[in-house]
Amino acid sequence: MPAASANALDHHWMPFTANRDFQSHPRLFVRAEGMWYWTAAGARVLDGASGLFCCAAGHGRREITEAVAAQLATLDYAPSFQFGHPIAFDLAAKLVRLAPGNLEHAFFVNSGSEAIDTAMKIALAYHRARGEGQRQRFVSRERAYHGVNLGGTSLSGILRNREAFGAMVPNIVHMRHTWQPDTGRFVRGQPADGAELADDLARFVALYGAETIAACFVEPIAGSTGVLVPPVGYLDRLRRICDAHGILLVFDEVISGFGRTGQAFAGDSFGVVPDLMTLAKAITNGAQPMGAVVVSDAVHEVLMAGAPEGGIELFHGYTFSAHPAACAAGLATLDIFEREGLIARAAERAPGFQARMFDLKDLPVITDIRGYGMLAAFDLAPAGQPGARGMVALKRLFEAGLLIKWTGDTGIVSPPLIATEEHLDRIAGVLRQVLATL
Ligand SMILES: Cc1ncc(COP(=O)(O)O)c(C=O)c1O
Repeated sequence: MPAASANALDHHWMPFTANRDFQSHPRLFVRAEGMWYWTAAGARVLDGASGLFCCAAGHGRREITEAVAAQLATLDYAPSFQFGHPIAFDLAAKLVRLAPGNLEHAFFVNSGSEAIDTAMKIALAYHRARGEGQRQRFVSRERAYHGVNLGGTSLSGILRNREAFGAMVPNIVHMRHTWQPDTGRFVRGQPADGAELADDLARFVALYGAETIAACFVEPIAGSTGVLVPPVGYLDRLRRICDAHGILLVFDEVISGFGRTGQAFAGDSFGVVPDLMTLAKAITNGAQPMGAVVVSDAVHEVLMAGAPEGGIELFHGYTFSAHPAACAAGLATLDIFEREGLIARAAERAPGFQARMFDLKDLPVITDIRGYGMLAAFDLAPAGQPGARGMVALKRLFEAGLLIKWTGDTGIVSPPLIATEEHLDRIAGVLRQVLATL
């Protein structure tokens, strides 16, 4: 028998966490309902982060719990290769009705990271089926976050997420990000300047040849890095360059999808339709792990037609793709969205939410605020090591009863779309009270 650990928390190696620090001051949630979490010590914490951008419809939604329980009692699992089950098809149909343009086909996975690596493989397979198998390069962007699998880490443009792991997937180049320190501070909504940053893609075309580039991946709003809203005209310009050169445009809507911007997807808010869209998080309201790649008719058709009659069209998938419990949670979530008009509600609440966030501008510790829809971020002036002040803020906010997401010294606010004016007041009030102490 191995010796018992001196620390009962030592066995769970926590993701993206300062494990040793956490063990000395654990922050444990034991219950959640509506807009609130409860801690192991019985304290109430207001959820200003939708968990981790997941729980758009709020916590403890009985409709989802019951749908999952009923599904597990009826059909707990079905193999996802060469066999299916009805609600996977129901969910796909419902999802593509929400999706824009001719995005008509959903491939289910279990996370945002899997959605990204799946989208990379679909792009490669698409070009190969068209006789352009030499298109193996991907274009991404500085400060991007596309999850943590090998493909997504390589696409990502956040140094701390890459530096421990070396070179990883080759043939990935990064455009500049769209935050401009001179003109971009405290801009509400879309910056007026910066559409020309999309021409970085054209420069890669000139440098490497369009015939080597498979796809361009962007988050329409760069989320995890701290809510970089695209400049006016930027995404249209990327779309035009992709169209001119046969490059697939992939929107990573893992954070920005499902009403966060006040429309179904951020692409809708900015009037640009991608060829592929990656989704996760709010797709099940966080109640089950699930992600999806939603693919245009044109891309899908090439892959269908490219395979021999009766043959498998894409040699890819996961044991838990379209898991029955996740599909049940997804359907129940989309029902709630429809029944409660959550997307319209987000659009209605967004101006008041943004106004409250931008009201924090007078706090000396804040060096920038950005936001769009029900998503906002602020930067703190660093104190000591990068991220140190953010960590202090995270802990003090938790003590004061507010959860938001932190990336280094940047705080990201992303409340459930069911938030009332009173909840938004409280989020802003606690932020002001705590940030003033830093
Ligand atoms: C834009 C984006 N893509 C992908 C991911 C990865 O999702 P997951 O953590 O579910 O793998 C995230 C997670 O935050 C994300 O924000």
